[in-house]
Amino acid sequence: MMAKILKPNHYLEIGTGYGDTFNLVCKYAEFLTGIDRVKRSKVNSRFNVMLYKGDSDSFFKTNKSRYDMIFIDGDHRFDQVKRDVVNALSVLNYDGVIFVHDTFPKGEIYKIDDKCSDSWKVPAWIRSNPFVDVMDVKKHPGLTIIKHKEARK
Ligand SMILES: C[S@@+](CC[C@H](N)C(=O)[O-])C[C@H]1O[C@@H](n2cnc3c(N)ncnc32)[C@H](O)[C@@H]1O
Repeated sequence: MMAKILKPNHYLEIGTGYGDTFNLVCKYAEFLTGIDRVKRSKVNSRFNVMLYKGDSDSFFKTNKSRYDMIFIDGDHRFDQVKRDVVNALSVLNYDGVIFVHDTFPKGEIYKIDDKCSDSWKVPAWIRSNPFVDVMDVKKHPGLTIIKHKEARK
């Protein structure tokens, strides 16, 4: 698990769901922020956790924090994921890493809105940004990893 290696100071997850990932990351991050439209009691809410109930667009309008690791796993429609990536990049520390989930679904049946939707468009789109380095895990449902280019340090 990447959080175990990265040990982020501040972790942000867009779309915490039932906390399957968020609760695991709790062991390795100093502070955590979770965003979801729906509040679910299974999501850990310890002293070092801030849970925001609402959509990611409204979260970023008031957010003042910066993050070391950001997991984007909310609304998988391409237009929304694009906004989440742009917003995430604007609050990502220089050494930070963004993970975008569901970018390599294994078939058409997964390219529907309540599954991976059209997140599969993210890898090609993000590569048109010259200021980032990108890596993909092309195993269903897929993951795209984004960081600021080293040269910007
Ligand atoms: C696939 S689930 C998340 C799973 C979770 N990340 C995990 O690893 O277990 C997607 C979640 O995103 C939430 N969601 C959908 N659109 C959102 C948005 N625009 N902003 C915030 N949360 C959103 C949904 O309510 C749902 O709980």
